[in-house]
This record gives sequence, C-alpha cells and structure tokens, in this order.
Amino acid sequence: MTKFSEEFLWGGAVAANQCEGAYNIDGKGLSTADIMTAGSRTERRRITEGILDGENYPSHEAIDFYHRYKEDIKMFGEMGFKCFRLSINWTRIFPNGDDENPNEAGLKFYDDVFDQCHKYGIEPVVTISHYETPYNLVKKYGSWRSRKCIDFYVKYCERIFKRYKNKVKYWMTFNEINCISLMPFLPAGIIVKEGENEAQISYQAAHHQFIASAKAVKIGHEINPEFKIGMMMIYPLSYPETCNPLDSLAAMKMMDNHYLFSDVQVKGYYTSKAKKLLKAKNVVLKMEEGDEEILRQGTVDYIGFSYYMSMVSSGDQIDKEVTAGNMLNGIKNPYLATSDWGWQIDPIGLRLSLNNLYDRYQKPVFVVENGLGAYDKVEEDGSIQDDYRIDYLRKHIEQMKLAVNEDGVELMGYTPWGCIDLVSASTGEMEKRYGFIYVDKDNEGKGTLNRSKKDSFYWYKKVIETNGEVLE
Ligand code: BG6
Repeated sequence: MTKFSEEFLWGGAVAANQCEGAYNIDGKGLSTADIMTAGSRTERRRITEGILDGENYPSHEAIDFYHRYKEDIKMFGEMGFKCFRLSINWTRIFPNGDDENPNEAGLKFYDDVFDQCHKYGIEPVVTISHYETPYNLVKKYGSWRSRKCIDFYVKYCERIFKRYKNKVKYWMTFNEINCISLMPFLPAGIIVKEGENEAQISYQAAHHQFIASAKAVKIGHEINPEFKIGMMMIYPLSYPETCNPLDSLAAMKMMDNHYLFSDVQVKGYYTSKAKKLLKAKNVVLKMEEGDEEILRQGTVDYIGFSYYMSMVSSGDQIDKEVTAGNMLNGIKNPYLATSDWGWQIDPIGLRLSLNNLYDRYQKPVFVVENGLGAYDKVEEDGSIQDDYRIDYLRKHIEQMKLAVNEDGVELMGYTPWGCIDLVSASTGEMEKRYGFIYVDKDNEGKGTLNRSKKDSFYWYKKVIETNGEVLE
C-alpha cells in the first residue's frame, strides 16, 4: 500500500493545562483549568470559586512538563516526531488576560520549548487557546460572554505571532470550538447561572470567538504569510440507528450543530441552515457592523479535528442504552467495542470523518487528536505492554491511509493525543492514560513523575521511520 507523503506530519499532541503544571510559577496567572478539581471515571470535575484548601487540582502540577520539557521533547525526537502539537498557556503570557504588557518569563519559556523542538527537527503545531481562559476574565467580564474578550485574545495572538514568527508555522485558534455548545466552561470559561438561556449565552460567546479567530487569522497572515492557521473541532461522527429515514434525519441534525462552527470558520459565514438552527434554539445573535466582513476575511487554512469515537442518532424518543463519550453521550452501537472509559472504538469512522470534512470544504485536514485512554500496568521488569493501544492506533492509521490513497483526502498529519501521559480533560484523572511515554503519577497526585517508554513507544517510532508503511 502507498505510503503517506514525505511532508506528512507525524507527531503527538498535548495541551498546556494538562501537562505543564507550574500553575503559579514565573508570573503565570490563574486560568479556568486551575480551578477545576479532579473527578473520576463516573464523576465530572467541579469548578470552584478560586482555589480552595483541601481540594485536588490536577493542573497545578500535572506532569511538570514546565520543568521537564527538555527530557520529554528529547524522547519525542527519539520517536522521530516531525511535529509536536502543544498549546500556549494564555496566562503565562498575559496573566490576567487584560494586562497592558506581557510577561517576559512566559514568552521566554515557549521560546525555549520551540528551540528544543527544532533541535530535534520537530515542527511545533500550536493551539492558541486550549481549555484555559484567564480566570480574571471570567470574574471581571463573564469571560467570552463579553465582546471585550475579542480584543484581549487578538492582542495575545498578535504578541505570540510576532514573537514566534520564525519558530512556529502551524497554528490553531481555539481547541474544539464546537464544544461551547456542549460544555461552555471548558472552551469559553462560561458559567451558566440558573434560569439563564444557555444556548443564547453559548452561541453569543461562540460568535465572539469566531470574530476573534478571524481577526487572528488575518493578522497572522500579515505577520508571516507562510503561517498556516487552522480551526479545530471535535468531530462526533453520527450514524443513523437504522435505515428509518427519521434516524437519518436525526443524524443529520446532530451533525448540523457541529458544522455550524466549521462552516463559519472555513466558509466565512453563517449558512442559511445555521441561521435557522439558531432561530430554532431561540438564539438572537448580537452582531456588530463589520462582523460579516471580518468572518469572510479570516477563513482558516486547514481543518484540525479530534476523533476518538463515533455516535449513533435515533429519531424516536424511546430510552436507549447509552454509552459514555467525549463531551457527548450517545446510543450504544452494537457493532463496536468500547474503551475502558466506555468510548466506542471505530477506526472506519475516522475514514468517514476525513471524507466528510474534505468533501465538504476541499481544504487540508489534520487529525490533531486521536487515541485510546486506558489503564496501563507496569510489569515487574518495568515494561508497559500496551498492545491494546497499538491495536487502536494501528487500525486508525490504516483507515487514514485508505482515506488518503483510495479516497484522495488531503491529510496534513497525525498527532495522537497525550503522546506522553497527562491529566484527563473530562475526568481530571492521571490514570486515564494515552501516552507512548508513561508518567509515574496516580490519581491522588502521588508518584515520582519519572518517565518510561511503553511498548507503543517503539512501535510508533517504527511507524514514523517507515512513514506508515510498517504498522505491525
Ligand atoms: C479532547 C480534548 O476533547 O479530548 C483534550 O481536546 C482531551 O483536551 C481529549 O484531553 C481526551 O479527553 P479526556 O477526557 O480523556 O482527557
């Protein structure tokens, strides 16, 4: 079978708040991630008002990437990474979000991180905002409810674009922007109070992020025309439960909710369907003069997306057996196995997703998250035999290959999630592991933080070495 192109970006992905730790070091301000407690497999994380004594906040130390990035990036280099997707902690650069001047120590940290990447020939792929909004913006302005956040964000982007102009080429403006409609706190720092119209608040905040993203894209291209600036969405591929047309309609409607986000960022406008959808939700968007023009001028260069699992939609209202999922719960698909956390494993769904997105937009696509969150066991000899992870990744890569070679999809790269074990976003657990590299730390925060290579480390190294030819 044909290989991927020579430019294919093999790598791995992390987010600052889930790996860096050092939450109050070198001038960093508090972010929304820093006030989220640890949860569990069955219990979501809580959001506290500021930092409370006696609570466990996993982002505070995480895996201490802040102090160990050299060792970690060296190991990525050893695996042969061509790229490394990471995010910048906004609060390292502007600790309060609305500061006049940036924090030099924060800027310097990412200079060092990017230099370390380049030392090993690794191209950084940077998410500008990944589930951490400055907490001060939440308290002072209600976060992205306020249009003021557009200027704060754009100022932050301008600063980092200029600073890293020659060190970073690939950017993404917001992680999983479409999650605002599911969990407004994670991507937008929005706390919905009782009695408020959540849809109105969330979509208005999304509109502010669309404008902020479009402005950033325009400015970024002015600063360096070589920049490739993408959007990033969660792609919850949805199948109709049966061939009953009502099920197909339900699946289509489910996807429409998500295409609203990518359409605005890729096409540059709210489609007629998006407008109807908002109307049906009783959402009245407050737009300012010039907004439509800004959206048109700030369309993205590529579509980054996360894909872990697929969903099932049904047209009837009867209670069905549900399964857990990434932000969303869905109906159980009898044809699929599930992960330790109940997420449905569906490699072919990745091929379908790649096709759907590429067919719809005819712009390059980038799988920037995919992977298996699983319990790992350290054997007596220190080895970690994660053949289940290898199996998951292999099957997904096979489908990517088919999407590229048989279907003609223009695929930029592949960055499996949590290439080194890190804090889970949904549960705050450490023991939900995705990595090729094991980090010795448990859910209570105990452990040496030592790193060790899992079997998948050696396997992925081979995959990259052979440009996806050898998957065994
Ligand atoms: C994506 C997020 O939704 O899923 C990541 O972008 C997250 O931040 C990943 O970690 C996996 O989810 P979880 O809950 O297993 O960490």
